[in-house]
Amino acid sequence: MAAAAGPVPRERDLAPHVWPSNVSLADDGALVAAGVDVREIARTYDTPAFVLDEADLRARARLFRDAFGAAFAEVGAEVDVFYAGKSFLSVAVARWVREEGLRVDTCSGGELAVALRAGVPGPEIGLHGNNKSDDEIRRAVEARVGRIVVDSPAEIERVAAIASAEGRTAADPVPVMVRVTTGIHAGGHEFISTAHEDQKFGIPLAQGHALAALRAVLGHPELELLGAHSHIGSQIQDAAAFEAAARAMLGLRADLAGATGVLVPEVDLGGGYGIAYTADETPIDVRGVARALARTVAEVCAELGTPVPRISVEPGRAVVGPAAFTLYRVGVVKPVTVTAPDGGTFVRTYVSVDGGMSDNIRPVLYGATYTGRLANRAGSDAVVRARVVGKHCESGDIVLPDVELPADVAPGDLLAVAATGAYGRSMASNYNHLLRPPVLAVRDGQARVLVRRETEEDLLALDVG
Ligand code: LLP
Repeated sequence: MAAAAGPVPRERDLAPHVWPSNVSLADDGALVAAGVDVREIARTYDTPAFVLDEADLRARARLFRDAFGAAFAEVGAEVDVFYAGKSFLSVAVARWVREEGLRVDTCSGGELAVALRAGVPGPEIGLHGNNKSDDEIRRAVEARVGRIVVDSPAEIERVAAIASAEGRTAADPVPVMVRVTTGIHAGGHEFISTAHEDQKFGIPLAQGHALAALRAVLGHPELELLGAHSHIGSQIQDAAAFEAAARAMLGLRADLAGATGVLVPEVDLGGGYGIAYTADETPIDVRGVARALARTVAEVCAELGTPVPRISVEPGRAVVGPAAFTLYRVGVVKPVTVTAPDGGTFVRTYVSVDGGMSDNIRPVLYGATYTGRLANRAGSDAVVRARVVGKHCESGDIVLPDVELPADVAPGDLLAVAATGAYGRSMASNYNHLLRPPVLAVRDGQARVLVRRETEEDLLALDVG
């Protein structure tokens, strides 16, 4: 962002594709979330806090169900949308997505426990993971999850052994899918198809490994082979890579049918639907991708002479990411004179907030960018070039590296950072013994706590030495 001078249009930072749809600005410039003034939220619940727009999240869940349901109905196929709980899972969120017609994808015993606590029926839950413990597999079998997505040849044998030990037989087999790495990897605008065998997930399509794994599952009567699963990456912006993966997976399905006579009923095409983190980014067109994918699946199946399978997808970020923002309080404001690359100097205003890398590791971990704005008032027309930083003992603890804020930003102000609903609270830590923030739901003028703030007692309770 260029060095700042002069007024900035206030609306600019409330780009509707970045902020939750029920967030607006009050006349005095304060942020209002689903009818709740953020100043009221800060007074009642303190900061930092994740503020989650319930209606917005539900609408995003519905969009996936409706868009994929309609597009695949056109080609005579059914679709299941699994919400990827790793992006953010709580009991309430699991209930909401279920009420909107989604299933829940989990990737650990902990996520499975939350989904079950929420009352999601086992058959509507999936379990992933490249290194599931026997205990996790056993709990999934006992809960009668709808699918265990096996990630390695060795795991097929472990799941089969646990299924047998739990008394499951050909009459009542444990449903599994096999996670396949197609060699297609996508993320951002990239579409790279090399070198992705060099990672830990799944079983490669290459050299017949995936086919062999599918056949291995068929050799176990206590397992029911639902189909093959592919997840190609995150923050994907268009349909091309999904279509390429679908093509590869449908080919694998036809190869298995050719080799064994078994046509598996399902193919899972994973998650990774991209969102906009900043005003200049464009979120993926969910309806457009659903239509393109349905067309491709139908076309490829026609070429292969196989019926269209039941399809599943696993969006996480695109359901919860834009539905929440983080509310921080500003502490220290410190102008620092910085040498520019051209040798000149400029002033960068360091604005410290009361959270940071413990509630949002993504800027440090991935160089992820976000947008934010003063949230309790409009602020002056004049702006400063600011860097919003956290309160951790690390100079890399940056929330917004380069952002224009009103020049009168001051200690005590509130600052909101948009699109933090996915992989924010779910990747939060207690670094420096900070307390992980609460997740507050806002709806129809009311706020309520979904996940409470940690307390120092919580931290001390773990320290038993
Ligand atoms: N399904 C599987 C098998 C996955 O591994 C993932 C994400 C998803 C679905 C959901 O992907 P989404 O729709 O949320 O992009 N921590 C990173 C993202 C890691 C995603 C890992 N797997 C981040 O903060 O960007």
